[in-house]
Amino acid sequence: MTREANPCREGDHGKFEMTDRDGWARLGKLHTATHVLNTPCLLPVINPNIRTVEPRELWERYGFEALITNSYVIWKHDNLKNQALEHGVHTLLDYPGVIMTDSGTFQNYVYGDVEVGVEEIVTFQREIGVDIATMLDVFGTPDMSKEEVEDAVNQTIDRAAVSIEAANGTLLNGPIQGGIHSDLRAQSAIGMSEHDFAVHPIGGIVPLMERQRYRELVEIILACREEIPWNRPIHIFGCGHPHLFPICVALGADLFDSAAYALFARDDRMLMPWGTVKLGDLTEFPISTEALAGHTPASVMALSDDARCELLARHNLEITASELARCRQAIRDGSIWRLVEERSHTNAALREATEYLYENMPEGLISATNPLRDGGVRTSQDLPTSPPAIAALGRLLTSYQTDAKRGILISGASGPWRDKIGGLVHTIARRWPDAEVFIETPLGLLPYSFEDVSPWTHLMGPKSIWNSLSDEDRRFDLEAMMGEIEQHVHISFDNGKQKNLEIIESEFGNGEDEEIEKIDIDRRMIEDKVRYFLDVQPEISKQYMSGSSFVYSRTHRVRNVHSSDGEHLLSPRMRDGGLSLTLEGARRLHGAGTPTVVVNDDSVPFTRKGRNVMHGFILQVKGDLTPGLPCLIEDQNGVFLGHGVSMCTSQEAACFTKGIAIKVREGIGE
Ligand code: GUN
Repeated sequence: MTREANPCREGDHGKFEMTDRDGWARLGKLHTATHVLNTPCLLPVINPNIRTVEPRELWERYGFEALITNSYVIWKHDNLKNQALEHGVHTLLDYPGVIMTDSGTFQNYVYGDVEVGVEEIVTFQREIGVDIATMLDVFGTPDMSKEEVEDAVNQTIDRAAVSIEAANGTLLNGPIQGGIHSDLRAQSAIGMSEHDFAVHPIGGIVPLMERQRYRELVEIILACREEIPWNRPIHIFGCGHPHLFPICVALGADLFDSAAYALFARDDRMLMPWGTVKLGDLTEFPISTEALAGHTPASVMALSDDARCELLARHNLEITASELARCRQAIRDGSIWRLVEERSHTNAALREATEYLYENMPEGLISATNPLRDGGVRTSQDLPTSPPAIAALGRLLTSYQTDAKRGILISGASGPWRDKIGGLVHTIARRWPDAEVFIETPLGLLPYSFEDVSPWTHLMGPKSIWNSLSDEDRRFDLEAMMGEIEQHVHISFDNGKQKNLEIIESEFGNGEDEEIEKIDIDRRMIEDKVRYFLDVQPEISKQYMSGSSFVYSRTHRVRNVHSSDGEHLLSPRMRDGGLSLTLEGARRLHGAGTPTVVVNDDSVPFTRKGRNVMHGFILQVKGDLTPGLPCLIEDQNGVFLGHGVSMCTSQEAACFTKGIAIKVREGIGE
């Protein structure tokens, strides 16, 4: 297959845009002069002296859009150096895609001193026409003293300005060092971010990965992530084992590079999505790749050393490429955390790292996650803590406040719950109007108003997960949402309505018999969603919904919500339990707390026509944008222009300069 490179437009050189995302995991495009690179991706390491697989094949046959080679190796060998200087590095390697070069730092770490100067090596990379060069950073190792590592961090920062100057417009990697010290990693990320680097590799981690110290790898990525500007790609230097891709991608990694495919092949080791396998241990191949077609382990064993090494390298490349494709697809599908969980069971060190991450899930990652999912979430008892999508709604609900004095907690079944207890909830509302119904889920208690919100309503797992909360968990959740509880009662779906009513009666007494219609209950549920999904205060939500009327579907679900004066305000979405505003519904919320972006004058006519808000045109964000949730748009004078769904967080809106920031649903017109 002949593939054409796709050079960036002139004004876009060096820009990174996000095209899809799930939490911190993102699909992106890095705009380089040679080609617009799709991320997350892996750059195979090419040794210009020993090419196990030809670079052209990497591009044409395996679809690798970028590779990394070492400029120091080219610089040291006169024949390579002269060719590169004369014809450029793309011709030297016969590769039409993005070429990144490293600087000799790693050689310095492995072999001691390198002879090249800080500016000299960057200048050389520019002269041979690389797309992304790397400055000569100082490698900090896990076994150095903290003082030594700090010195490496500071020396690297001190070299940043001259390196940028020498790059003179060539895109440059600014590696983050700091060993295993989170504070030094953060210090390094902050210091390096002040300079105009195109990409930030996280460096100094190869020794950790070689010893499978994956928990520390996670700690390092966590320490750096929020200190690196969101609009710059993050590269995990030297990370090429496919089983690490999902967790790194979930934490925001965009680029990987690896020599593992070739190095492992030399030792007859085969990469698999779940780990490494020795060729000699196999009687059959547990996976099929193009490289292995027509072979058995014995027939590969019988090949000459060179032929076997090449065949295994090709297999390793195929696995690596497909595992990254799997991660990219998982980002689109909203299932990257499922993949993290699955891969965590393939290796004890990776499991430990994943558990560490579950226990230390950054608040910023949770708030960058769309709490609503289209599909279900598979769960089991070994996933007690939440993937961020669930934590994201959990976060909304921990701020859940209710005036109710008494709680009724119902457990023992999966959703959708309205069919199972809709009638019971209505009776409770009539007889005990000061009580609030909560559904027990394996991930905590859910106020009944959110009963159709996905993924909670679509949690899939064995029956055992539906009775997994302890009394202590229940009390904790109830108190979080209700404050000091006066009284609560615990019932079960299995009992049936009559028995459950008797249990409530025995605790709460006979109760009243208020005139409450189904519409009042539905209104209350939508009021709650307006509060939490549109970020408005309870009084405002009440006022907004006051006197509203509904259009119902044939299955008695609210399809459209109309204001007291007959305007269509919003429609609850059957697909995920979220709310879709109408233009009038959005206009009436303007100024009431719903997150709002202020766009500059250039973009006003476009927004009015309903065109998307692009990054670079946002002057300010009022409130906190959540990807996937509604937001409003206004001009600099505070005039309402339209509404849409945010693709980004407020922090991202403040720094990205390319790509869609807000998918606009409707503008007010010209
Ligand atoms: N390759 C693997 N780790 C590193 C690192 O820390 N710095 C550089 N420049 N290259 C690397």
